[in-house]
Amino acid sequence: MKYEKLFSPITINSLTLKNRIVQSPSHMIYTTYEGYVTDRFKSYYWKRAENEIGLIMTGGCRFDDSGCVYGMMSLSDDSFIPGYREFTDGCHQRGAKVGVQLFHAGAYTKKENCLNGAYPMAPSAVRSGFTREIPREMTLQDMEQLIEKWAAAALRAREAGFDLVEILCSAGYLLCQFLSPLTNQRNDQYGGSFENRCRFPLEVIAALRKALGPDYPLTLRLAANDLVPGGNNLEDAVRFAKLAEHAGIDAIHVTAGWHESKVPQITGDVPRGSFAYLSQAIKDAVSIPVIAANRINDPAIAEKLIALESCDMVGLCRALVADPRWASKAKAGEESLIRRCVGCNQGCLANIFQNKPVQCVVNGTAGRESAFTASRRSVKKSSWSLAAVRPDVPLPSLPLSWDIRWRFGKRRIPWAAS
Ligand SMILES: Cc1cc2nc3c(=O)[nH]c(=O)nc-3n(C[C@H](O)[C@H](O)[C@H](O)COP(=O)(O)O)c2cc1C
Ligand code: SF4
Repeated sequence: MKYEKLFSPITINSLTLKNRIVQSPSHMIYTTYEGYVTDRFKSYYWKRAENEIGLIMTGGCRFDDSGCVYGMMSLSDDSFIPGYREFTDGCHQRGAKVGVQLFHAGAYTKKENCLNGAYPMAPSAVRSGFTREIPREMTLQDMEQLIEKWAAAALRAREAGFDLVEILCSAGYLLCQFLSPLTNQRNDQYGGSFENRCRFPLEVIAALRKALGPDYPLTLRLAANDLVPGGNNLEDAVRFAKLAEHAGIDAIHVTAGWHESKVPQITGDVPRGSFAYLSQAIKDAVSIPVIAANRINDPAIAEKLIALESCDMVGLCRALVADPRWASKAKAGEESLIRRCVGCNQGCLANIFQNKPVQCVVNGTAGRESAFTASRRSVKKSSWSLAAVRPDVPLPSLPLSWDIRWRFGKRRIPWAAS
């Protein structure tokens, strides 16, 4: 096989994955407003599950009313479990393992997206450089309650059949805000020194580890450099990664900076795999598996990064929006047939920032998988579809007016009614 390292198995705690390909977590706005699973959500992920993804990471997933963004999946109470159980069963039947990222945005939450009268909260009441919200400062009681909710959601995830839970500590969300001296200006034991700023994130990790037990895989998504002047750098991230491993993390999914960073991280002009130096530094410091991310949308680059030990696994997000069959094509050596993500962010990120479901400019079927499967089946037997794939079969000749009437109905096209 051409990409031997990419398609070799790996173990995260008690979970064995068939290959090194991780579908990075992405908020898709495919659930209901409240966060219940939908057919659209299931079809999107199941299409990827049946195409050789080792680990599908879903989320971000809400577990608290004050920390969410518009239209995200939720595990904030038990009513969400049955729907997600059906979803995870479907992933397993299709050969993929599936995890969920538990998400709290802190000051990156907009007031209008909080539910049930909640208000954005963060380590300190510092205006967010991303949402421009001024959150309220979290009390010790808020922190205690949030940890309880986080752990309860992790248990629900396990009950819903997820194979792994991930804690979000990247892109500038709540735990990053605790770690950074810019957004954490507390005077108590949770602010000030580096050790104090690490305290709350480490308490979250320890609580989830305790709740889930020693064998259940628990991972961390980590910003390995805030890329914000005055924020944490790679050296700080390495220090925190070691503490996180010690507190019970089983793998670290490394990303680059915060949303408010001015440094391009995922646009089309960023060279593929160029942030792998971050995962490399984390990997050198810890002994658990490390996942690299950001524009690793070429199987040869993915293979090379693993071979060079810059990471143990690769995370792909938009590459799999653009082509659900990315992994199966790579496995079959058909990488030239991969439909490439062009890094435009027009259909995916731009949409979610306007509270619209993810679409893709190069893949019209993204988020509409079930619709396209149905219509494909229904036309499969027709000579049209045969002609489309076999150049030797001539296109059926139909009068144009017949075709138009067949598509739109006679009555709606008066000039074609005769
Ligand atoms: C539409 C969209 C939603 C995302 N949502 C999340 C999220 O909820 N949590 C997260 O950690 N990363 C999220 N990301 C970031 C991706 O996981 C990934 O790190 C980023 O897109 C860079 O990787 P890529 O070049 O493979 O797309 C999102 C990205 C996109 C495009
Ligand atoms: S919309 Fe653009 S950036 Fe987003 S997945 Fe499609 S090609 Fe990639």
